[in-house]
Amino acid sequence: MTRTLITGGLVITASDELHVDVLVEGSRIAALATPDSHGWTADRVIDATGKYVIPGGVDAHTHMEMPFGGTMSCDTFETGTRAAAWGGTTTIIDFAIQPRGGSLRQGVDAWHEKAEGNCAVDYAFHMIISDVNESTLGQMGALVEAGISSFKLFAAYPGVFYSDDGQILRAMQRAADIGGLIMMHAENGIAIDVLVEQALARGERDPRHHGEVRHALLEAEATHRVIRLSQVAGAPVYVVHVSAEEAVAELVQARDKGLPVFGETCPQYLFLSDDNLAEPDFEGAKYVCSTPLRPREHQAALWRGLRTNDLQVVSTDHCPFCFKGQKDLGRGDFSKIPNGLPGVEHRMDLLHQAVVDGHITRRRWIEIACAAPARMFGLYPRKGTIAPGADADVVVYDPHAEQVLSAGTHHMNVDYSAYEGKRITGRVETVLSRGVPVLEDAAYVGHRGHGVYVPRGLSQYS
Ligand code: URP
Ligand code: ZN
Ligand code: ZN
Ligand code: ZN
Repeated sequence: MTRTLITGGLVITASDELHVDVLVEGSRIAALATPDSHGWTADRVIDATGKYVIPGGVDAHTHMEMPFGGTMSCDTFETGTRAAAWGGTTTIIDFAIQPRGGSLRQGVDAWHEKAEGNCAVDYAFHMIISDVNESTLGQMGALVEAGISSFKLFAAYPGVFYSDDGQILRAMQRAADIGGLIMMHAENGIAIDVLVEQALARGERDPRHHGEVRHALLEAEATHRVIRLSQVAGAPVYVVHVSAEEAVAELVQARDKGLPVFGETCPQYLFLSDDNLAEPDFEGAKYVCSTPLRPREHQAALWRGLRTNDLQVVSTDHCPFCFKGQKDLGRGDFSKIPNGLPGVEHRMDLLHQAVVDGHITRRRWIEIACAAPARMFGLYPRKGTIAPGADADVVVYDPHAEQVLSAGTHHMNVDYSAYEGKRITGRVETVLSRGVPVLEDAAYVGHRGHGVYVPRGLSQYS
């Protein structure tokens, strides 16, 4: 069994900051001790002097190779997990999709086929239920037993993924029975489709209109509704990709009543805005995602929510489509632009920048990027922390290095960066995945097939 000693660094978890050395034996963390209190020998020593030693990131929201709008998100599990590793993320949770008319199992099997043997870091799955009915409700229990304990439903996208209120309620009731967690895409898709049609009829065809028709109040309305439905069902609910301050207010109100209501936001909502959607020459298409980027004034509520724990998790919703050939599908009709942004590589760095900028503390950085997603989705304490017995998913992070984000240097398989030219203080230096080096001194040493499927337990939300 290989022994690795990570020495001299500041170990940061969601709860502590300690100047301790970390001993890794094989794939697990064996022990932590102050440098002068142990006489450990090791096969490999990583000098982390002046650096942070943090848990590998857990990105609980990605879409690799996802069919959408007549095309396919352009990171495979191979390229997407390699990019994740470059950015210090060692676990992704991707969304398997039930084919319409097919079974949940068929969707899971298809996703295993895409991922197995191809990943650089570990992966798990949520399930998108595209058709809530007697049969699929009955299949949810078997999925929980197979380690897929969370189910995404859509109040948006009528005719594609949309579930009506009755279907949402029934899935929540079922989740309450089996210990599952319902994840909601909370936008009023029926109303949005009316506004889309009206905008197109007025000749409003540019990407910026995507943001206008997907009104913040229609996110807030759907958020309010799914919270009430979850309350009636006696089930917890997790709202994905929250972007509107009015939606945050709904979460705050519910949580003030003590309801098990949780929320996630994404770096694009914290760092980008509808100004990007309005970029000329169709450049705005690069920023089309749903929920949409909002006016910059919404960001304060998101940062506050992250500080007050009214928002618990930051995931990427990584769903990349190339500008050339894919985003292009919506030239002349914003409603045909495939929805989604690339981001799996940059979440840890952007959130470190948030520490540098004073939005969050270092421990909160680790909480929202590692520990909380692991707990929320039944991976803790195997993932999301540095403690004896945990998987040795460890990142040595240089908090002083400077880097500039760019499509010219990133590792995602997409022809643009949503953060082109953005300066970041901090950089991932070394990454271990289950004790195995994947990145060493900022050079990739990982390989396809190292990453394994991680079945998840029930959500440990609190
Ligand atoms: O625009 C987005 N978010 N694309 C991915 C699908 C989803 O709704 O999460
Ligand atoms: Zn969504
Ligand atoms: Zn998504
Ligand atoms: Zn390996």
